[in-house]
Amino acid sequence: MKGIVLAGGLGTRLHPLTKITNKHLLPVYDKPMIYYPIQTLVNAGIDDIMLVTGGNKAGDFLQLLGNGSQFGLRHLNYTYQEREGGIAEAVGLCENFVGISRMVIILGDNIIEKGIKSAVEAFGKQERGARILLKRVKNPREYGIAEIEDSRIVRIVEKPKEPKSDLAVIGVYMYDNRVFELVKGLSLSARGDLEITDVNNLYLEREELTYSILEGHWADAGESIDALLETNVFVKEHGVNKESR
Ligand code: G1P
Repeated sequence: MKGIVLAGGLGTRLHPLTKITNKHLLPVYDKPMIYYPIQTLVNAGIDDIMLVTGGNKAGDFLQLLGNGSQFGLRHLNYTYQEREGGIAEAVGLCENFVGISRMVIILGDNIIEKGIKSAVEAFGKQERGARILLKRVKNPREYGIAEIEDSRIVRIVEKPKEPKSDLAVIGVYMYDNRVFELVKGLSLSARGDLEITDVNNLYLEREELTYSILEGHWADAGESIDALLETNVFVKEHGVNKESR
């Protein structure tokens, strides 16, 4: 299983903090934000990892992370997203890296208290397709939201104006390597992105999208200045990445 950490983008929701640096290099309590998603993958048993970066100060990731020895890794892979094309476009850059394998993708600003290991293991047992992780949230207008009927996802809507549920699709996506063909067929959304929600809905149409409910706290630390502050306080008070399940 390959791991992909997405750390591009301009982080405009955090201006002016991100005017001169990359959002994922900002502090979350005692470490740069990017440490947390890498540790989440490593705790789930994934040690072949690609970091996709872009935007401001992309080169700083090399200096900060090197070959990943602080995570017990022997090597880290890097690639560069030249324009702000969205999460799905960034995934498309990893086709050669993933090859015939499967992947677990995590957004560089997603801070997960407990682990994703049990979900990764469940995905490993799936014959094909995709698996996503859901978490109840108080502000469903800010996320991709899954509508569930009879325990099955029937639809995912990106940042719905009138949310039909409070189950957010968190920034952890597990795909087989057919995702690269799906990404090539996507069209740009109204915000000019190739949307990961469109990818998930394509797997859903094929009846190949499963889900797990995430236990423990989840934060999209890059969602707003307040989310960043609250995540800093949460990590100080509770710690994260202590469990590997
Ligand atoms: C992205 C996805 C959204 C998801 C969120 C999780 O939103 O588009 O579906 O719920 O990440 O962090 P973004 O933060 O890029 O607006």
